Amino acid sequence: MIEAFRYEDEELVCEGVALRDLAASVGTPTYVYSRRAMCDRLREFQRAFTGQDALFCYALKANSNLAVIRALANEGAGADTVSMGEIKRALAAGVPPQKIVFAGIAKTDEEIAFALGAGILQLNAESVPELERVSAIASASGHTAPVALRVNPDVEAGTHEKISTGRRHDKFGVAHDEVPAILDHARTLPGIALVGLHMHIGSQITDTAPFEQAYGRGIALFRAMREAGHRLERLDLGGGFGVRYRNEQSFDATAFAALVARLTEGLDCRLLFEPGRALVAEAGVLLSSVIYRKVTRDRQFLVLDAGMNTLIRPAMYDAFHEVVPVRRTGEERLAVDVVGPICESSDVFGRGRLLPPLDAGDLVVLQSAGAYGAVMASDYNSRPGPAEVLVDEGRWAIVRPRRNAEEQFADERIPPWLAGLEKTSVG
Ligand SMILES: Cc1ncc(COP(=O)(O)O)c(C=O)c1O
Repeated sequence: MIEAFRYEDEELVCEGVALRDLAASVGTPTYVYSRRAMCDRLREFQRAFTGQDALFCYALKANSNLAVIRALANEGAGADTVSMGEIKRALAAGVPPQKIVFAGIAKTDEEIAFALGAGILQLNAESVPELERVSAIASASGHTAPVALRVNPDVEAGTHEKISTGRRHDKFGVAHDEVPAILDHARTLPGIALVGLHMHIGSQITDTAPFEQAYGRGIALFRAMREAGHRLERLDLGGGFGVRYRNEQSFDATAFAALVARLTEGLDCRLLFEPGRALVAEAGVLLSSVIYRKVTRDRQFLVLDAGMNTLIRPAMYDAFHEVVPVRRTGEERLAVDVVGPICESSDVFGRGRLLPPLDAGDLVVLQSAGAYGAVMASDYNSRPGPAEVLVDEGRWAIVRPRRNAEEQFADERIPPWLAGLEKTSVG
């Protein structure tokens, strides 16, 4: 449990605000974010890189709520985006275009044109066809596109299969041994200014060894490409820095900065980073109510009002989120299966979790839920979605209200030819 969420008089509190009071005002399920926790984490990274020319572009995909983006932008963060929608969010939240990076495996013509028109810092190209498309759109519209080429360094990130992105067979980037030929080709394309190389090898990486391996490869390439006459000025080293869900080591920003300083010694270039999870995961919890305690012949279930529609990570990646009660009691602990209300057997948050005896109406939180939580929520089963709340030194605000069923289907249409209710043939 990070310090922004702690027990006071046995009640869980976030920056001076009792989670019980939030539940009473806003209802559940609700994501609760601590502004201080996310900004402290950003400052920790920034401090670790003091003296190096480094820009931290927050990866919006982790949590793209405008209030979260604004809170981090106020501390100097830029934005790493993967769609026109995310660029629009970054701009709406006040991130200056000169601090916005546009990554992503397949940018459409409309997205490329929009990014160029907005004057963003850089587009990270993932393939030769994409480079050529950017060139065509930029030269037709009189722009010069600042482009970094994403290198696939072919390393194992040592993380979950579904969040590894830097191996030869992954769909991301171009093979590192093809980079020289691709850069030579890119140099001949109109409308493109090759500004750097980009890498991102995966997410939730807790060990620095995979970074050392991948960066070593990318930086050697960067030096060689400069020697070959390419005027590269930036190295975008991506994100992927791990967080604590269970008992992982906390990612050591200082040791990481020392590693980067050693690898980039004498390089004289600007460094970009794209942390998502590392900034927001531990700054958020998912607050939920027990709907039922259900006892079967051989198991006890706590059925929550949050489910895989609210937080899909356990169902999708077998992810672990600690579940703790909002009111801590000294009572004995029971092994319970903590599940959601969705009609899927995979809607399980954890089996055999040791919790005090809890019953209908009791409140729990799922910890470290600030990243890849609310952004992945869905309307599945048409249950009310999560609300989102930002807490800031005793103040709090709803930064996204809950959508009820009517709001979820408000923009759906029944075509005119289905207007009359058909008689059924039953009976
Ligand atoms: C290109 C890129 N940059 C940054 C990130 C953010 O990763 P993380 O949230 O692990 O820092 C991702 C996530 O998949 C990504 O694909």
